[in-house]
Amino acid sequence: MRLIEGAEVSKLMVKSSHARQIMERCHALGEVSDESDCLTRTFASPAMRRTNRMVASWMDSSGLQVRQDAAFNLIGRIQSSNPRAKCLVIGSHLDTVRNAGKFDGPLGVLIGLAVAQEMKGKKMPFHLEVVGFSDEEGVRYQTTYLGSRAMLGRLTKRDLSLIEEKGIEKAKRPQREFLAYLEAHIEQGPVLESQNIPLGVVTGIHGQTRISVTFRGQAGHAGTTPMNLRHDALCGAAEVILEAENSGMTATVGQCEVVRSSSNVIPGQVLFTLDVRDSSDTRRRAACAALREKALAVAQRRGLKLQSWKIVQETSAIAMDNKVSRILQQSAGAGVPMMPSGAGHDAAVMARACPSAMLFIRCRKGVSHHPSESVKPSDVASAVAAMARTVLELARAYE
Ligand code: HGY
Ligand code: MN
Ligand code: MN
Repeated sequence: MRLIEGAEVSKLMVKSSHARQIMERCHALGEVSDESDCLTRTFASPAMRRTNRMVASWMDSSGLQVRQDAAFNLIGRIQSSNPRAKCLVIGSHLDTVRNAGKFDGPLGVLIGLAVAQEMKGKKMPFHLEVVGFSDEEGVRYQTTYLGSRAMLGRLTKRDLSLIEEKGIEKAKRPQREFLAYLEAHIEQGPVLESQNIPLGVVTGIHGQTRISVTFRGQAGHAGTTPMNLRHDALCGAAEVILEAENSGMTATVGQCEVVRSSSNVIPGQVLFTLDVRDSSDTRRRAACAALREKALAVAQRRGLKLQSWKIVQETSAIAMDNKVSRILQQSAGAGVPMMPSGAGHDAAVMARACPSAMLFIRCRKGVSHHPSESVKPSDVASAVAAMARTVLELARAYE
């Protein structure tokens, strides 16, 4: 007698009740913010702590054993009857970017909780955990994946030197504990919507480099300093920014600040960030090196100083696990495409410790990292069913 019969998998139907509850909860979490006029939740902030309490109560009322680890990751667990079993994790993140949408992160955590509700009472050959990671975006310390990296013992000395909250390294768990990792996430791009398809499965996650740059020039009077005698730090930065745009990479300057700026003062010092991504680590690293050379040449020609060019974070590209992704694709149904992820996810970290797979959910106009982010409840219901069927198939495969 098998733990999970095949019929049980195929008869697992799409339930709109799960979707309704998930949407309500995403909207409720969307009101929990560190800023009064937009949605922003950063690592270990008051809003993050309130969020963890809310999600912990939902996990608890679903019968999960709930704890928060030393890195503020929220973990809900259904224990297997086999104490020596490994652990299947379904997760995503509860932190957000600034002025965020309601679904990037929390949707995946709450889909995981709905799947756990479906699994309650079933005899499973693995422990099942739903994890809300504490810092995927890295907004507070520019660290990205702080929560998932802490859980896998992959924090750097620099991470620990930057972070006020001490002891987060104690969140580390032995990698052998993890059987596999699943993450459901909005696509954050327009591909699924353009093909009128609700779900996709991720082939791999592009690598990314985040760089902080400082140009120092010479502040001066906007009206009296001849154009050919200026050392304008912002014009120098502008040359590098346009070079990044034309580098062939997926490149973004998300932040740019003229230090102590006034409208009638030539910018003396400029700080800006570069976010450079590509499917190839070799191409990405070469492009970042070329951009640094460009910045040095611009500084030389304009009489500026390239005061700093600091790689703040770098994550190499990583493929998702073929076997688990195939099961996820079959569970999601016919016509579900495989597609790359230009966005980073905690799966980029978990995939370095265990077989990992990601399910993408169509989002309206492909918009994300913005309050207008939205998903269809019917797509959310399909995602819950696909993830639940995958968990049952993994239970059959690993029993
Ligand atoms: O930036 C990203 O790719 C993700 O949203 N952290
Ligand atoms: Mn995300
Ligand atoms: Mn994001």
